[in-house]
Amino acid sequence: MSSSVQRQDGSGALPPQKILVTYASRTGSTAGVAEAIGKTLTENGALVDVLPMQEVKAITPYGAVVAGSAIQNRQWLPEAMQFVQTHRGELAKRPFTTFSVCMTLAMRNGEKYRPSVLDWIAPVRRLVRPLSEGLFAGALDIGKIPAFGDRLKFQLSVLFGVWSEGDHRDWDAIRTWTNELYPQLLTPQAYSE
Ligand SMILES: Cc1cc2nc3c(=O)[nH]c(=O)nc-3n(C[C@H](O)[C@H](O)[C@H](O)COP(=O)(O)O)c2cc1C
Repeated sequence: MSSSVQRQDGSGALPPQKILVTYASRTGSTAGVAEAIGKTLTENGALVDVLPMQEVKAITPYGAVVAGSAIQNRQWLPEAMQFVQTHRGELAKRPFTTFSVCMTLAMRNGEKYRPSVLDWIAPVRRLVRPLSEGLFAGALDIGKIPAFGDRLKFQLSVLFGVWSEGDHRDWDAIRTWTNELYPQLLTPQAYSE
């Protein structure tokens, strides 16, 4: 599906530019969130590419970028930080937003940790300031975690009731955030001639 955007002076439609939704994921849940964001943007009329960060060759074809990462050890995954570092010049020229996926928000009273979790994204913010920062509960599937030590750590945290296994993604929250975000991705600089 595609859309065109009216000039602010009403003099005609500008050609649509694609929105890039890109992600870094280890066990698939952030990829699923990225797909859901892409689907919602498409339903709003946008042209969208949803790609893992390693597959993004250039930012220049896109009018806006939504970049997200799974949280591991209270930070974005290394390839996600690398993505922002590499493309920071181009990201700063267009609407740029982030989303992060983690288990802390899936905890009982997880919402009260939202401000601290947002601090974990400060290194991204220092490179390029996003228009908006989505923060979503993720999924915990211990069988998918590659490192034995990490699996053990998570088994213990489940045993002690810190986190519970399963898919905690809140699709309504993801859709609502994306619907609110969409108009911000259509600022004039996203549609420069
Ligand atoms: C090794 C490892 C470290 C993690 N560290 C954190 C963390 O510090 N804080 C947090 O809230 N969640 C943490 N998580 C949970 C993940 O952020 C969560 O499971 C997320 O949904 C995984 O996304 P993915 O499936 O896209 O990899 C960690 C998960 C793993 C496997």
